[in-house]
Amino acid sequence: MDQLKKQNKAGVSYHIRPPYGLLNDPNGLVQFKGIYHVFYQWNQHGFVHETKSWGHVTSPDLIHWTTQQPALEPSKWYDKDGCYSGSAVIHEEKLVLFYTGTVKVDAGEKISFQCMAISEDGFTFRKCGPLFEHPAGYTRHVRDPKVWQDDQGKWWMILGAQTEGLIGKVLLYSSMDLENWSPAGSLLKQPLALGYMWECPDLMLFPKKDVLLLSPQGLEPEGDFYHNIFQSGYLTGNFDREGTFHPDSQPFRELDRGFEFYAPQTFTDESGRRLLFAWMGAMEPDVEQSVPTIRDGWLHHLSIPREIKLEQNKLIQKPAKELEKLRCEEFSAGIDLVKKGFSVLPAAECEMILRWKKGANCFLSLRKEVEIRYSAEQKRLTVERTGWLDGKRETRSVVLEQDLYELRIYLEETCLEMFVNGGREVFSLRYFVQEESLEVFLSNGSRNLSSAVVYMLER
Ligand code: FRU
Repeated sequence: MDQLKKQNKAGVSYHIRPPYGLLNDPNGLVQFKGIYHVFYQWNQHGFVHETKSWGHVTSPDLIHWTTQQPALEPSKWYDKDGCYSGSAVIHEEKLVLFYTGTVKVDAGEKISFQCMAISEDGFTFRKCGPLFEHPAGYTRHVRDPKVWQDDQGKWWMILGAQTEGLIGKVLLYSSMDLENWSPAGSLLKQPLALGYMWECPDLMLFPKKDVLLLSPQGLEPEGDFYHNIFQSGYLTGNFDREGTFHPDSQPFRELDRGFEFYAPQTFTDESGRRLLFAWMGAMEPDVEQSVPTIRDGWLHHLSIPREIKLEQNKLIQKPAKELEKLRCEEFSAGIDLVKKGFSVLPAAECEMILRWKKGANCFLSLRKEVEIRYSAEQKRLTVERTGWLDGKRETRSVVLEQDLYELRIYLEETCLEMFVNGGREVFSLRYFVQEESLEVFLSNGSRNLSSAVVYMLER
């Protein structure tokens, strides 16, 4: 790892990456005294899912991030094998973190403790230890506390959990002072068959509807759905403020239709926006161990911050407005694309906004690696890339509610995030080019495209 620490190329990314080692879930998202704090699950010692700390970066503007000292590291009897995921709240001008302490017992089995840590300045944290006993009837897979305060001043905590019958659940606790917590049972009172374990729950309260985010494990592929190792998605409904979330008739819907997006977390910033970061992302262990960036000393990154809105019962995700400040030059690639259907990007880090004429089909190839196809007849949008472990082409696909009219793509050397039709669908993916290429090719470009703009992004 020491050798890799020296080699790491973490500087050239607008996605939050670990300086070295493995990153997974975003944790403790908060804006505290004007500064954005993003914490993340971090193995500083290798590329496997062990000994997690909370890595920490801060930013005044959501786009320029400074690495801070890790906020939480395994050190106590109750978190000696990992400080697992959790959230942050602000109380009495202090930043309060909630996380899951993990301890390995006999035969490698892990037990969990829901813990708190407090900071006055937002940079150094004092651990306060476990908050309550493990609930009866649940396996030791209880974790990922997400805490918020309601308008009556009451604090609520939800936890991802698994019953002894191996069913995924969300557990609810409440508190008046953040220290004394009372169990309030399962957040959903009606059974919902959705896998064997639910991780990283999050509840978003909107004026008319509420949204429960979940990362369930154990869903089988179904048509275009659930093709990733684990899924993240949401239920719409109402949280009755007494301890029950009542889902409406909408099914569980995946948040992102690409490949490895997982464990999203949201927060409300000082301007009142709901922002989301996720992990990019969850992979089968052998696929994960063959990610080429391991050679450069780092593994995985977060998504860009996305602004979340609920429109007609559907979550709409858009890149946070601040990302527009990364644009440093509008580049003629766009003109070439509209005219000739072919262009060469000045660098892999760019943002493309492509608009199509109504009812047009599309075939777009990026860097000779990622293909994007749209069939207007079926309203089907498909993204294809090469699996870096087995070299096979793999696809994810969605049927749009309306014709494709816009793709906004954030491209980077090894990943892209593609916002479709103003954020009504999103595809995120890692990709690794087979040969160095900055080509963009669009068949029938001049006939079907109404506009294309390509921006270079600040590096
Ligand atoms: C989700 C997750 C969480 C856990 C963390 C450990 O990816 O498994 O449930 O707290 O990662 O790193």
